[in-house]
Parts: sequence; structure tokens; C-alpha cells
Amino acid sequence: MIVTMDGPAGAGKSQLARLLAARIGFDFLDTGAMYRCVTLACLERGISIDDPTAAADCALSLDIQFSDSSVLLDGVDVSHRIRSPQVTSSIRPIADNPIIRERLVELQRVWAGARDVVTEGRDQGTVAFPNAPCKIYLTASPQERARRRANQLAREGIQADLDSVLRQQNQRDLEDTSRAFGPLRAASDAIHVFSDGLTEDETLDRLVEIVEARRGLAFTEKLTEKSTEKSTIGNTESSFTSDANALKTNATEGDAAKTNAAEANTPQTNVLASKS
Ligand code: DC
Repeated sequence: MIVTMDGPAGAGKSQLARLLAARIGFDFLDTGAMYRCVTLACLERGISIDDPTAAADCALSLDIQFSDSSVLLDGVDVSHRIRSPQVTSSIRPIADNPIIRERLVELQRVWAGARDVVTEGRDQGTVAFPNAPCKIYLTASPQERARRRANQLAREGIQADLDSVLRQQNQRDLEDTSRAFGPLRAASDAIHVFSDGLTEDETLDRLVEIVEARRGLAFTEKLTEKSTEKSTIGNTESSFTSDANALKTNATEGDAAKTNAAEANTPQTNVLASKS
């Protein structure tokens, strides 16, 4: 089963997607790391990121692999180098390049294959895996996301002014949502998780709950198809059916089944690419 997790920068997607995958025994795919690998390769090989053809040729020549929690570029561990400020600030033309996007989406689909995967990014539920049975859109308010980012930087010994973190984040949001190909967007059938006011553990619990309910829904649909086998399943079917109905009810309330921790007073969630 494929679980997609999309959302804006700073929502805690990477960490929570990794934790979610570990908790439910799925593999984890960090698609942002793929865009970062292409950017790093261009920078280190003296290829202009602003030359779409040269950058795309570079992307097509790369071998990107995930091994445990490491990212390998042409066999070399680049897990740390792809997170450098220079890569982060240079990535936009790479993420905007339609040929590169097409190539990376193809690699994402091959990587996922028939595995059970939690895949995290911006376009996973909309472009890469539009038929995924479980789609999550993880977000938080801009202020909360900026506050978390500033705290994270402080833990790394970097003092960052909250206003400037918020300004940079707003700029990234704008770039991510206005991209012509593969923009950040919630799939119409994504379940929204809004993590303001939730701890990481609470958010993780909520994510696990969503995945388990979706698994139940998929199971129920299979049972319905195989109606002749129903009688042998007994009570198991009805408990899954109620989860399925709850999800269907939510889905009718808007474009997507939105879950707001504050409103629902329910524990909710926050969550990279590699095998967990
Ligand atoms: O999630 P991240 O910060 O590691 O992502 C790095 C960049 O790649 C970010 O600018 C958005 C972009 N990206 C994308 O366009 N599509 C994805 N599926 C994943 C990331």
C-alpha cells in the first residue's frame, strides 16, 4: 500500500513520515532528497542550474539510491551535503524543471514498485501516486511552522530571528505552490492533518490512526468485491466498515477530509526517502 504525505516546508513532514513508516513497518521515500541530489550534482559538476537542458541531462545521468537512512549519489553517501544551505537556496530551478520532475517521478514509481511505502514530498498524492489509497496533507499555521524551524536552528546553535524565518518560509510556500509542474497542492481525496497544538507523538498517533483506517477501508472494499467470501469473515468486516464509513463521511464535508486537532479535540499528527 502507498501512503502519500504532502505539505508545506516546516510542517514536520520528513520526520513524521519517517516515524510513521517505522511504526507501521513500511519503507520510506524522501522525494525532496532526490531534488537535492540533482541540485548538488549540478553545483559540484559546474553545470548551470539555470540551463534547463544541461541540468536535465545531468539529472538523467544520475544514479540515486537510498540505503537505510543514507542517500547515495552515484554510489557516494551525500546525506549531509544535500542539506547544505547552498543546495537549499539553489534548488528552485531544479524543482521547476519539467523534464527533471518527470524523471524523478518515474524513479519514485519504480522505487515504490509493489512495496508498502510512505512517500513524502509536495506532489506525491497529486502527480506521482494519484491512485494511492491513503493520502495525507500535513500542515500547520505559518507562525507555528516558523517557530518550530527557529527552535530547530537554535538547537543546532544557529540563532535565527523569527520574522526572517517566517519571511523565508512564506517565500518557499509561494514558490512551492506557484510551480507550473507538480506544485504543492493537497489531493482532493487527501486527509488534512493540522498539527498546531499537537506534540510530535500526538501527531504520529493521528497519522497511524488514519493509515489503519484506510487499510481497513481497502480491506472492506476487497471484501465487498468478493461477496461470496463474506460469510467466512464475520465480525471483522463490520468493524472495518465503521472506519470506512467515518472516512467517507469526512470526505463529503469538503474537498478533502479535513482533520483539525483543535476542532476535533482529537490527538493529531506531524513527519523522509529511504528504507526505514
Ligand atoms: O522537502 P525538502 O525541503 O527536502 O525539498 C527540497 C525541495 O524540493 C523543495 O524546494 C521542494 C522540492 N520538492 C518538490 O518540488 N517536489 C517534491 N516531491 C519534493 C520536494
